[in-house]
Amino acid sequence: TYDETEAAEIIAEHEALEGPLLPILHGIQARFGHVPEAAVRQIAAALNLTRAEVHGVVTFYHDFHKEPRGRHILKVCRAEACQAAGSDGIADAIEKALGIGFGETTPDGQVTLEAVYCLGLCAAAPSAMLDRRIVGRLSEAKVGALVEEARL
Ligand code: FES
Repeated sequence: TYDETEAAEIIAEHEALEGPLLPILHGIQARFGHVPEAAVRQIAAALNLTRAEVHGVVTFYHDFHKEPRGRHILKVCRAEACQAAGSDGIADAIEKALGIGFGETTPDGQVTLEAVYCLGLCAAAPSAMLDRRIVGRLSEAKVGALVEEARL
């Protein structure tokens, strides 16, 4: 959970840097796993920026997340080559198996489902990535095992 005192320490550590915003955001995310709205407010006040300015940076960099993410991240490629190989059906099957949509996390905090646009593995399309492991040649038959693994 977010702790304003700890966040203030992270802000204070980087405040004097030239261009302190990114190092602060990285510090907050490293500590709390995401950058909640409360942090955006606190950082804006400390750096004399508007909330919109801080928010703009958080949303511009895909590394930052506004919501807590699951223990496992399952990314499913939704770009062209994978789509041509049937990734839409696989994406539907994964959503159904997890009971969540893309961009969401299971209520137990175990799995976050995200879309990616090309994992550089088009030759083995359709592909996905569970945490750091790439999974190629996905089929609807393989979805069950993949989801089960993500839930562990
Ligand atoms: Fe899916 Fe390239 S389009 S890996």
